[in-house]
Amino acid sequence: MFHKKTIRDVNVADQIILVRTDYNVPLEPIDSESHSGTAQMRIASDLRIQASLPTIKYLLEHDAAKIILMSHLGRPDGKHDQALSLKLVAERLAELLPGTAVSFVDDVSGPEVEMAVEALPQGGILLLENLRFSTAEEANDEEYVREIVDSTHAELFVQDGFAVIHRGHASTDAITRLLPSVAGLLLEKEVTTLESVIQEPQRPFVVVIGGAKVADKQPLIDKFLPLSDQIFVGGKIAADGYQSNNPKLIVAEDFDTAGDGAKLDIGPVATAKLIEMVQTARTVLWNGVLGKVEDAAYATASTILAKYLGEHHEITSIICGGDTAGFVEELSAEDPSLRYSLVSTGGGAALELLCGEKLPGLDGLEDL
Ligand code: 3PG
Repeated sequence: MFHKKTIRDVNVADQIILVRTDYNVPLEPIDSESHSGTAQMRIASDLRIQASLPTIKYLLEHDAAKIILMSHLGRPDGKHDQALSLKLVAERLAELLPGTAVSFVDDVSGPEVEMAVEALPQGGILLLENLRFSTAEEANDEEYVREIVDSTHAELFVQDGFAVIHRGHASTDAITRLLPSVAGLLLEKEVTTLESVIQEPQRPFVVVIGGAKVADKQPLIDKFLPLSDQIFVGGKIAADGYQSNNPKLIVAEDFDTAGDGAKLDIGPVATAKLIEMVQTARTVLWNGVLGKVEDAAYATASTILAKYLGEHHEITSIICGGDTAGFVEELSAEDPSLRYSLVSTGGGAALELLCGEKLPGLDGLEDL
């Protein structure tokens, strides 16, 4: 059970609401170059923007006076880097919320922000500039967010940036000491679904682990060995020779190789074994792609698994990790009939939650 108050537990009508989202979206260059010679960027995946819509819509439908959104993008280390401006995100939001006034201001506090808030109509949305253009954000500086609260006149804080709750930053931690603080609907959904696989998974419960670094995945394997019925290990960690004597742990042993012998995808025998495991499962948690999926020739096993899970809605399927979520999302864009129980927006946050780490962005919210 989710033990924090959410926006459903408080009055949001006529309030100015400050919402922390995670709009740390992947960007890619558009082919053409601008006059200044620098590449123009576009949003490569709007998964995190789409995922923020239920909370925004809830607040609008429940007559919030004004919604102020704040986020980070990338790791600019306190420097104003125009390539990491959130302006593009504001433009995408405006497209996704036709009929709603969405504006953007290139600061987080001060006179410009005050004027922008003043100018917002009832039910209008304002996105502030990248919080990490100041080092105060990652330093968890209370003054930094106090200025944001003063400039925006915010009365309620909503944490909906699931992907950033493992960070103890000003906009995730210090802010909760300044305003009544509750969870948004994305945060509630992600935490509830991920916790349910730890606490009461429908069985058989199979965990599929891929990816590149054993150091990142070993804590997940250790955590889920006692909780799951079987664990399958593929990806680069299997290719690099991961070994275990535990009978619950199945490690891929055959691989598709490149001309130079590099093992770039798990092979047909391992893929068949994986699908056999998944066929009888009621819950599947998948973290980490099984091959070098950016090269279509080595995306076979990941595609077979993603399609199987996306087509079999009787299986509770939880996809987490940036690469895995991005991969599954691309396939679903091509084939909208593919559906999953949860494609988590959080990479590090999901892993830390699953491994039982402290989550400062969740802890500070009001208890139910
Ligand atoms: C993420 O993408 O995992 C979150 O936005 C957190 O970003 P960070 O790892 O730069 O803190």
